[in-house]
Amino acid sequence: MMAEPEQRPVRIGLVGAGAIMRLSHGPTVSKSPDARLSGVFDPDGARAEALAGEFGAALHTTKLETLLASDIDAVIVASPNNLHEAAVVAAAAAGKHVFCEKPLSLDVAGARRMIDACETAGVLLQVGFNQRFWSQVQIAKAVIDAGVIGPIHAAHSNYGEKWTAYPAATTYRYDLARSGGATIIDLTIHRIDLLRHLVGEMTAVFADLSHHVLPQRVDDNVHVLTRFASGARGVLTSNRYSPAIADGTTLYGERGTIHIATETLNPFQAVPLAIYTESKASDLPEVLREAHYPDAWWKEFDGGWISVKPPRRSPYLAQLAAFCSSIRNGLPALVTGFDGLKAQEVVQASYLSVRDGCWVELPLPRDAAFVVPSY
Ligand SMILES: NC(=O)c1ccc[n+]([C@@H]2O[C@H](COP(=O)([O-])OP(=O)(O)OC[C@H]3O[C@@H](n4cnc5c(N)ncnc54)[C@H](O)[C@@H]3O)[C@@H](O)[C@H]2O)c1
Repeated sequence: MMAEPEQRPVRIGLVGAGAIMRLSHGPTVSKSPDARLSGVFDPDGARAEALAGEFGAALHTTKLETLLASDIDAVIVASPNNLHEAAVVAAAAAGKHVFCEKPLSLDVAGARRMIDACETAGVLLQVGFNQRFWSQVQIAKAVIDAGVIGPIHAAHSNYGEKWTAYPAATTYRYDLARSGGATIIDLTIHRIDLLRHLVGEMTAVFADLSHHVLPQRVDDNVHVLTRFASGARGVLTSNRYSPAIADGTTLYGERGTIHIATETLNPFQAVPLAIYTESKASDLPEVLREAHYPDAWWKEFDGGWISVKPPRRSPYLAQLAAFCSSIRNGLPALVTGFDGLKAQEVVQASYLSVRDGCWVELPLPRDAAFVVPSY
């Protein structure tokens, strides 16, 4: 029998050499069996050179054209948000596949132009919603799809990270002209995507965004109410001032509840995934039956809480593997440009809600205004 031909690694160029490239994408590409780091571009030449040296890329440059003219197959774009579009459009025109960090753009119109550019060029576009690749999220999705908790009517998600906790290389995040928004577009957007993924499309939002602590007058306290196409209701919250990282997503269904978290360091979150169900063990999907100790140890399980300790896998490695697999097999991205656009739309609609003090229906009209509120 002939052995499968070995596929060569996907050659990756990094667009940007800031904090997330150093903390996540650089190390992930360099340890991935699917990819190889070929080049690094950053207008700050010292940063590009340091990152290329640290993770073994042959090329470092201060010119995007030089990176795009090299033999790379794909780019990972992680620059300040307002610069994503130009890089993605240029990469697509050069025939390179694109992985773009969230948020895709500053507004829906920008996201749409980026999707169109990639479609026209016939290249893949994947968006960096890495939280979809958390093991606990993947198990929760399978449990929801198996109907274990029944129809979901309410979803709560909280994501808070003090602004000094993250070692950003630049200050673009709190300059609204470059970021398009502060906490909502940086943190909450992950949970907008997660709730779309787990509960479905959103049809309206009502937002209260306020400023309390950050030196810049930008949103550091986010409260967004959402309605879903299914009729479910959601609440998304984020903050940038509280010292303990706050994280948790809870989904309330007619027949059960799911709680998803990242860490187990906090007394309110004993495990990364907990599921309350009224089902007997024999009616549960395998992934949950496995998570529960054999009935012989305890009493027979006929409903209650099940604590799941999912394998601790790197979501960055998993999303890169998905990106490379889509490129090699000519398959659609697992997290598409459209997902990026829809999350962007919720952010943009939230700004309109703050401006007008009312619910904003989705989808937004194509000519909807982009206004970042003043606080
Ligand atoms: N998925 C996630 O969880 C996650 C986490 C962190 C950051 N991000 C995203 O990654 C992006 C970068 O964030 P960061 O924290 O690394 O920022 P950062 O401030 O640490 O670094 C930004 C880098 O971009 C460089 N830069 C400036 N102009 C550029 C250009 N025209 N082209 C390319 N690079 C340019 C800067 O010199 C700097 O090195 C943002 O869009 C952010 O939302 C995503």
